[in-house]
Amino acid sequence: MRAFRAPGRVNLIGDHTDYNEGFVLPLAIELECVVRATARDDARVRARSTDLGGEVEVAADGTTEPTEVEPHWGRYAAGVVRALSQRGRPPVGVDAVVSSTVPLGAGLSSSAALEVALALALCDAAGFELPTVELARSCQEAELIATGVPVGIMDQLASLSGKRGHALLIDCRSLAVEPIPLPSRLAVVIVHSGVSRALVDSAYAERRRACEQVAGRLGLQTLRDVTADEVADEPRARHVVSENARVLEAARLLSEGLIDELGPLLNESHASLRDDFEVSTAELDVLAEELVAAGALGARLTGAGFGGCVVGLARREEADAIAERATGRYASRTGLRPWAFVCRPADGAGPEQGRPEA
Ligand code: GLA
Repeated sequence: MRAFRAPGRVNLIGDHTDYNEGFVLPLAIELECVVRATARDDARVRARSTDLGGEVEVAADGTTEPTEVEPHWGRYAAGVVRALSQRGRPPVGVDAVVSSTVPLGAGLSSSAALEVALALALCDAAGFELPTVELARSCQEAELIATGVPVGIMDQLASLSGKRGHALLIDCRSLAVEPIPLPSRLAVVIVHSGVSRALVDSAYAERRRACEQVAGRLGLQTLRDVTADEVADEPRARHVVSENARVLEAARLLSEGLIDELGPLLNESHASLRDDFEVSTAELDVLAEELVAAGALGARLTGAGFGGCVVGLARREEADAIAERATGRYASRTGLRPWAFVCRPADGAGPEQGRPEA
């Protein structure tokens, strides 16, 4: 039996930019999915989840239709099997047990963690190798196959490329990943709003289409090379262009250790996602506001939006107290039950046994 782990991710800044060939700044987190697998000789992939219950069985050659698989989490597994098979993975079967500490619907990429851990296990069992970027692309495809949502590549690439103590500046055009050390005096606080997000039900695809339409009108494939002036009257595209600039600025500030100046960028990102891209919710707005009121340097929704988590930056010695104050105030204002944790940037996916001690 062999075990592979893949972390969830939190995005510090740069949302809804990845599918526009823009920039993102995520980090892998310590919450992760682990897949333990043994090869079978009958070309069937069987997976059981210890957290979500149920078992799925699909053909190892990818011919089982992923959107018909039940229970629902099995669709991601079937999507990975199909995406890898399309890239030439031999149809070797496995028995897999999946367990995960990444909460679902939190915007922390539980599905990417599952896809990546399973993909590593499936490739290993078949003696099949893919470069990191191709693995990330296969898992991104798996998500599309499983859910129909045309996600970008950030989550899967962050889960594969994470580096302990570092955030990752990813250029989603070249797919170059540049690890940037997080100063130790800076803490990343993640707070779940208590409202889960359903990516499938969200307006994700509609937002993506709106961006592509603006790019198309300008005679371009994506919004990557568009200037702020060109989209001054287009709120969706304006968000993407301004967010790209904030990501690059945040990466520069981080690498120069200028942590105080990072806060306003996070706040501006939240405002842009709320007002221009319109993917925030009343709860996420209150939570970001309370984190800043409690002393965070800045805070913003993270991931696709429509629920899930807010990420804040704080001075390390103040982080716990800030999280406690903000969650208390948020709970009394909304009646919801938030939960917070201070996260440490983790290493990317790989075999479980090779894992360095924390
Ligand atoms: C989801 C998608 C990513 C990205 C974010 C928004 O997490 O999976 O590709 O688009 O939303 O930044």
